[in-house]
Amino acid sequence: MQIITSIPKLRKLGNTALVPTMGNLHAGHLSLVAKAKSVAEKVVVSIFVNPLQFGPTEDFATYPRTFEQDCEQLEQLGVDLVFAPKITDIYPNGMEASTYVQVPNLGEILCGVSRPVFFKGITTIVNILFNLVQPDIALFGEKDYQQLLLIKRMVADLFMPIKIVGMPIVREVDGLAMSSRNNYLTSDQRKTAPILFKTIADVRQKLKAGERDFTKLEQQATLNLIATGFQPDYFKIYSADLTIRTHDNLVILAAVNLGTTRLIDNCQV
Ligand code: PAJ
Repeated sequence: MQIITSIPKLRKLGNTALVPTMGNLHAGHLSLVAKAKSVAEKVVVSIFVNPLQFGPTEDFATYPRTFEQDCEQLEQLGVDLVFAPKITDIYPNGMEASTYVQVPNLGEILCGVSRPVFFKGITTIVNILFNLVQPDIALFGEKDYQQLLLIKRMVADLFMPIKIVGMPIVREVDGLAMSSRNNYLTSDQRKTAPILFKTIADVRQKLKAGERDFTKLEQQATLNLIATGFQPDYFKIYSADLTIRTHDNLVILAAVNLGTTRLIDNCQV
């Protein structure tokens, strides 16, 4: 496995799948890598904690960085190349002065409301990574459902010749969606955290049983989350394409704070 930390050394490898990550890899990330191995000849994993997608009061400085363990895991999975650039290589003119890519509307709802710079940072870095690595395929997790849709939209709008593959959420045995941010939880918070998915799953059951008062379901779930110790940011039922609410093909999405840790989760109905 090659480890490349500078841009000039990067060359297109042939039929390539890219898995963009911010590192601190867990089984969710590794499921994307395993799928990448099965769909392309060469697999590139990028590890870059992208400052452009963190707000000024967010956790850029404390975000877990475990580069050596990450590389060991990727080596075992037969990854061909790890691309781990420096911030100054990616944003040589400073990130504020960098050209950016922004998807309107879809980027302004849900997480885009409370994290106004977040999606601009994501679409910009993913676009840069696509240009550098030139993959044929790129894989993303449904854990970040809105992110996945935004990237599909960017690729379609800009006619990028890249196939975007979405992969199911990998969960802990108690239902909590795997996330690098789960590391921040205290042991008490870790016991509370699975209630987020349980609440989403309960609403999913009600929708499957035919309940259609979306606002009531959202409000009940929000109150339930508050009562169990979360500070909800949003709990929303949308159509799967995140446009209007239809009566079928739905997705339930939630973002909460548990103490100072932000958790997101979702489930398609
Ligand atoms: P990161 O949070 O490291 O996630 C990298 C990829 O792993 C994303 O596509 C994410 O959806 C996927 N992933 C994370 N947890 C998952 C889980 N439990 N099950 C399945 N997939 C999971 O998302 C980012 O990094 C960044 O925004 C990035 C796209 C790399 C741009 O900086």
